[in-house]
Amino acid sequence: MTSADDLAGTMTPDTETVSPGAIADTVETLPAWTYDNQEFFALERERLFMRNWQLVCHVSDVAKPGDYMTLDLLGERAAVVRGRDDKLRAFVNVCRHRAARVLAGDKGTCQGRIVCPYHGWNYDLDGKLKAVPAETSFPGLNKAKLGLVPLALEIAHGFVFVRFDGSGPSMAEILASVADMLRHYRIEEMVPIGSVWWREIEVDWKNVMDNYLEGYHVPLGHPGLLRLFGRDYRVATHPHGVSLARAELRDKESDNWSERAYQRLLPEFTHLPEDLRWSWQYVTWFPNGSIELYPEQVAFFQVIPERPGKCWVRAVSYGLPDDRREVSAARFANWRINDKVQAEDEFLVQDVQEGLKSRSYSVGYLSEKEVALRLFHDTLRSHLPAAWSRKEPAPGSVEAVDQAMTAS
Ligand code: FES
Repeated sequence: MTSADDLAGTMTPDTETVSPGAIADTVETLPAWTYDNQEFFALERERLFMRNWQLVCHVSDVAKPGDYMTLDLLGERAAVVRGRDDKLRAFVNVCRHRAARVLAGDKGTCQGRIVCPYHGWNYDLDGKLKAVPAETSFPGLNKAKLGLVPLALEIAHGFVFVRFDGSGPSMAEILASVADMLRHYRIEEMVPIGSVWWREIEVDWKNVMDNYLEGYHVPLGHPGLLRLFGRDYRVATHPHGVSLARAELRDKESDNWSERAYQRLLPEFTHLPEDLRWSWQYVTWFPNGSIELYPEQVAFFQVIPERPGKCWVRAVSYGLPDDRREVSAARFANWRINDKVQAEDEFLVQDVQEGLKSRSYSVGYLSEKEVALRLFHDTLRSHLPAAWSRKEPAPGSVEAVDQAMTAS
């Protein structure tokens, strides 16, 4: 039998980097230094978060003209607004006068106009600048050129995505391999069944994603999920950095109150194919988004970095309109189960964040059960080749190392 030491001995050659060409064979994690390095984080901001689609909300969050929902991400601010013409548009949530936030809070409704709270510049719901208090005091002001700055927006499977910069595949293309399965849930018809849920976590965003992407830790880390699903937690990878995890509820009744309530009360949702009626699924895409699919509801799960070693988790739950008491009870039981899972995961990732600082640790090793995590790390290295370096680059040299690794 191969021991961990043997494994480490064979998989950690006496070099400081691994070959970018060895993507298909690598079983190493990202190196520890990437989880707490300001220069690397700056590259992540530009290449991962500004250039990839970010989920802002569900179409039902912005159902009426004037409704809006916002997303702040790494110093950028997005707002999705429904116009008088019923069209959804996305803007940078920054006033063209002197950069104040024009739309406040996670969500809201503006009455006819978007009015900046600082000096009162006001914009139509389509972003055009309509009126400026004391306009004659701005000689030569060209209002036609000073609308809110538009952002790329896409609606896919009922969710609204924005992109701050760059180009690349649409979210429809990214999710194409799971689109038929997603359509069964009728997500477009859903409505919010909870408010925006935020959680501040003192760990790096990648550490949260690492944990989220693998079920290898479930038997020990989540006794409740083990009771509900057993050990049959399947994870598959798909094109465009997408993964799909799935587990089926067992028949055996749990001795835990919330889990037992969920098992007993969950109705059979006949709009779903039989094999999805008792399944929990997680569709995750690079770098930081996921849709959790339960028979009675769905939720998005999004990891928002703040700085190296600190992030926020943002989530909202949605369901088909259904006022049956057993549906409400099953949704509540699900939230209780997942609150516990979240607390267990936070303990694990906080512990890992500390462990990553140990001088004894540079990289870890990934099993075949961690296939989605391997995909996540490989995709990240393809965007940020500096992550091939096991050793932390000297201060001021991360970008140079990245360029050198790109060229190699
Ligand atoms: S910053 Fe918006 S009106 Fe002045």
